[in-house]
Amino acid sequence: MSNDDKLMRDAAERAISYRKSLQGRQVVPTPEAIAAVAGFDEPLSEDGKADSETLAMLDEIGSPASVAMAGPRFFGFVIGGSMPVTVAANWLATAWDQNSVMSQVTPAVATLENVSRRWLCELFSLPEDCAASFVTGATIANFTALAAARHKVLADVGWDVESEGLIGAPEVTVIIGEEAHPTLTKSLGLLGLGRDRALRVPVDGQGRMIADALPAIDGPTIVCTQVGNINTGAFDPVGDICNAVRPAGAWVHVDGAFGLWAAAVPSMLHRVEGMGAADSWATDAHKWLNVPYDSGVAITRDAAALKAAMAITADYLITDTEHRNPSDYTPELSRRARGVDVWAALRSLGRRGVEDLIERCCSHARRFADGLGAAGYEVLNDVVLNQVLVSFGDDETTLRVIEEIQRDGTCWCGATVWQGRRAMRISVSNWSTTVADVDISLEAMLACAERGKQA
Ligand SMILES: Cc1ncc(COP(=O)(O)O)c(C=O)c1O
Repeated sequence: MSNDDKLMRDAAERAISYRKSLQGRQVVPTPEAIAAVAGFDEPLSEDGKADSETLAMLDEIGSPASVAMAGPRFFGFVIGGSMPVTVAANWLATAWDQNSVMSQVTPAVATLENVSRRWLCELFSLPEDCAASFVTGATIANFTALAAARHKVLADVGWDVESEGLIGAPEVTVIIGEEAHPTLTKSLGLLGLGRDRALRVPVDGQGRMIADALPAIDGPTIVCTQVGNINTGAFDPVGDICNAVRPAGAWVHVDGAFGLWAAAVPSMLHRVEGMGAADSWATDAHKWLNVPYDSGVAITRDAAALKAAMAITADYLITDTEHRNPSDYTPELSRRARGVDVWAALRSLGRRGVEDLIERCCSHARRFADGLGAAGYEVLNDVVLNQVLVSFGDDETTLRVIEEIQRDGTCWCGATVWQGRRAMRISVSNWSTTVADVDISLEAMLACAERGKQA
């Protein structure tokens, strides 16, 4: 076996061992493992070091210092866990090392991406001819979809924003909810539409936009809605908002980083009613579809608007093809083959598997809420999706309990502030979380809560 072969096999063995360790290990690394990362900080060598030794160092220092985010008891932020088939497909596609720009020179990955696009439209009950952009995550998916929105609403009044920019352009009104995710406002800033310039629509106690409070629409307008509030999981009434603003020509965007997956589950369709009437949707694959980082998707009804915002030509590129050129729809030119992991996840799960995954996580979230509620702790949100917000008492006590839980390491949950109150967030998004994981975690949370209250 050549040294290169040995190296690849060694990497696979080490990765397999690491994945196996996720079930049993503490979620947080030990202080000693964290201290050991200083060992990476060596001088750049003159002549390089052996590959096998480099890989060993990565595993021996890096693996123990990693947080078990891919494991079944990490409930912080909204973190998926990469199903085995997606990691395996990702390895193979990494070995292919295709630059997913042009279909003619990357026929396999361009086709896989296009199949993933079609399957996603089907799963979310969106028109089959929507365009899709395979990007790094929901942040850039929001940016990408909103670039298409900016193109269209300005083209409608005769302004070519790609050529002319925004200086001297007709004013674009942007409307967002008070609870819009900060990456949505960041995207608006990147597009020259301003992080703080948007009109903000008030929300209710769950963080849902109040459709009746929308301002009157006049001129080029983009309305940004959200399905899946980062804290409560709540859904904006996207159908009502579409009914109110689309007749006036507004573009409606849906930030569905994780909540869009409710559209793939028949029992949850009422939560996203009317969402299909919107113009664009952003979601993550690295959250609830459980593919490796990084992976998000922007989908637009108006394929031409997305292409107008993103496509480029150059004499050395092969852009005049009857096939779909992936880079016609993405902010990047050179790019890894993200569609492969999405394709592998969807092919492995099928429709039923996606439904099971989403429903299972939501049922785990309800189990957490019931267990914490039964123990006398206050659940602050209606648990309509995979998010639970819990208070352990006053703000100081809640923060102390969260610190205890993070130190304990059986599971990991983060802190937030919900409508003025400190709360712990539990987000269940990992394919491998079982009822037993929930029960072990609940037991640890309740023990930490006792200790936190007494401190
Ligand atoms: C509603 C919403 N939008 C956007 C994002 C940003 O996603 P990403 O970090 O994958 O870019 C998140 C992340 O949690 C989110 O919940």
